Amino acid sequence: MQLSKKVLLGVAALTAALGNAQQEATAPEGSAVVKLTAKTFDEFIKEHPLVLAEFYAPWCGHCKTLAPHYVEAAAALESKEIPLAQVDCTEEEDLCMQQGIRGYPTLKVFKNHQVDAPSEYQGGRTSQSIISYMIAQSMPPVTVISGEEGADDFKDLLAESSSAVIVDGGVSGLNETFYELADLFRDDFTFVQYNEGDSKPQLSIYLPQDAEPIRFEGKNNSLTHLVDWVQIETKPFFGEINGETFQSYMGANLPLAYFFYSSPEERSNFESFFTKLGKEHRGKINFVGLDASMFGRHAENLNMKEQFPLFVIHDVETNLKYGMPQLSEEKFAALTKPLELKTSDISKFIKDFVGGKLEAIVKSEDIPEVQESSVFRIVGKTHDQIVNDEDKDVLVKYYAPWCGHCKRLAPIYEELADIYASDEDAKNKIVIANLDATLNDVNVDLEGYPTLLFYPAGKKATPVVYQGGRDVASFLTFIQEQGHHGVNGSAILATKQAQEAADKVEKEIDAIEEEDLKHDEL
Ligand SMILES: *[C@@H]1O[C@H](CO)[C@@H](O)[C@H](O)[C@H]1NC(C)=O
Ligand SMILES: *[C@@H]1O[C@H](CO)[C@@H](O)[C@H](O)[C@H]1NC(C)=O
Ligand SMILES: *[C@@H]1O[C@H](CO)[C@@H](O)[C@H](O)[C@H]1NC(C)=O
Repeated sequence: MQLSKKVLLGVAALTAALGNAQQEATAPEGSAVVKLTAKTFDEFIKEHPLVLAEFYAPWCGHCKTLAPHYVEAAAALESKEIPLAQVDCTEEEDLCMQQGIRGYPTLKVFKNHQVDAPSEYQGGRTSQSIISYMIAQSMPPVTVISGEEGADDFKDLLAESSSAVIVDGGVSGLNETFYELADLFRDDFTFVQYNEGDSKPQLSIYLPQDAEPIRFEGKNNSLTHLVDWVQIETKPFFGEINGETFQSYMGANLPLAYFFYSSPEERSNFESFFTKLGKEHRGKINFVGLDASMFGRHAENLNMKEQFPLFVIHDVETNLKYGMPQLSEEKFAALTKPLELKTSDISKFIKDFVGGKLEAIVKSEDIPEVQESSVFRIVGKTHDQIVNDEDKDVLVKYYAPWCGHCKRLAPIYEELADIYASDEDAKNKIVIANLDATLNDVNVDLEGYPTLLFYPAGKKATPVVYQGGRDVASFLTFIQEQGHHGVNGSAILATKQAQEAADKVEKEIDAIEEEDLKHDEL
C-alpha cells in the first residue's frame, strides 16, 4: 500500500514536471533564467560581458519545447557567470521590434556590453549544445601557436580546417583589433596567431585547398577595413550558392555572377575557367555555381528562363540583372541536344558588364496607356521616373495580388486617391500610386506586403516608410506632415463632402421641382 502510494506520487510528480515543461514557454519563477523587459534590458547587457537572450512568445510551440533545455542550461552556466535571459515579445513589442525579431524563438548572443550588435545564436537547441556553445563563446577567439612544435601544429591546423584560416604573424599594434575581428567571425573561420619565421610579420588568409596565402596589402588595418577584407578574401574564387551561403553573398554587396549548371560534370568542366575569373575580379564580382536540379526556380528571380546551363549577373546594389541571351520557348522545346555555353561568350559578356555596355533585363508590365482610377498604376519601367518627380509628393503601395492585407487596404487607398484627385491644386502636387511587386522589378527594400513608401518632393533620396494606421484620416495627416507641399487633405475631404452633400440637396430639389411641375400640369 505504502509503496504503491509512493509510486503514484512519483508518477504524478513526473507527469506534472513533464506537463509543465511542455506547456510553459516562460521559465518558472526561481529558475536561473533572467526575465528582461524594455526597462531592464540595456542595463543588464551593459553589466554583463556575455549574455544569451531568448525572444519568445508564451504561445509558441518551439518555445515550449526549448524551455526545459533553456532552464537547465541557465542553471549550469550560472556558476560560469554566463546569464541566460528571456524577453516575452507579447509584452515587450517595442524592444523586440528594435531587436528585429521576426520569429519565435529567436536566440541572440550579446557580447562586450553591446546592445546593438548581437550575433545570432548558431548552436543546437538542447541544454548540452547551449552550454557548450556558450562556453566556446566565452573562450578567447584566437588560437596562439608557438614553441618547438609550432610549425607542425600550424600545418595540422591548416590541413584540418574546412574553412578559411586567418593568421596574424605578430603585426605590431594589431593584437587588439585582431581579437575583435576574430570575435566577429568566430563562428565562420579559424583565427591564429603564429609567426612562420617572417622577419616582417604579416596578416594572411589561408583558403582550404589553396597553398598560397592571401596577404593583407592594405595600409589601414582598422577594424572596418579588416572586416571588408575578410568578407571579400574568405570567399572561394568560384563558390557554391545554396541556403547556407546565400546570405553571405547578398551581404557582400558585390555583383554576383551565377553559373546555373545542370550536372556535377558540367560544373567541374567549368571549375578552372570560373576560378580564374574569380581571381581576376576579386573584390569586384563574386562567382558562384548553382545546382539547377535543386534551385533552378531561382532563375525566375533573376528574370531568366529555366534553360540550363545559364549565366547571369545580379548587381546586388542596384538590383539589376544581366543575363546571357536565352532561346525562345519554341526553339528551346525543339532542341535535339543539350544546351551549351561557350567560355569565350561568357568572357566577352563579363567584359561588357565591367565596361557598362550591357542592358539590364528589367521585369516590367507594359506601361498602361490609360490610368483607370485615381490610384496611379506604376510599372517597373516607369517606377524611378514617377517616384523621383521632384515637384510631387508621391506615396507608393508595393503589393502582391495574393496578399490579404493588400486587398483590405485597396478600397481605403482608392478613397484616399479620390480625395486628392477631387482638388485641382492637390492633383498636381500629390501622387497616390501602386505597383504590383511580383510583376515589376524595383530597387527598393521590400520587407513584406504591402510596403508603403512616401517620396516627398525635394527629398527623394530618403523615402519614409508609412507605418501609421490603415485608415484615410491617418494617411491624410501623414501626407500633410511629411509632404513637401503640406497639402491639407482633411480640408479637401471636408470640401468634397460638402460639395457632395450640396449636389445631393440640389438633386432632391430638382426632383421636387419636377414633381411640382407634374402637379401643376395636372
Ligand atoms: C592580445 O589581446 C588579447 C585580448 O585583449 C589579450 O588577452 C592578449 O594577452 C594580447 N596578447 C598580446 C601578445 O598582447
Ligand atoms: C583607417 O580607416 C578608419 C575607418 O575607415 C578611419 O577612421 C581611420 O582614420 C583610418 N586611418 C588611417 C591611418 O588612414
Ligand atoms: C486642415 O483643415 C481642417 C479643416 O479645414 C482644419 O480643421 C485643420 O486645422 C487643418 N489642419 C492643419 C494642420 O492645418
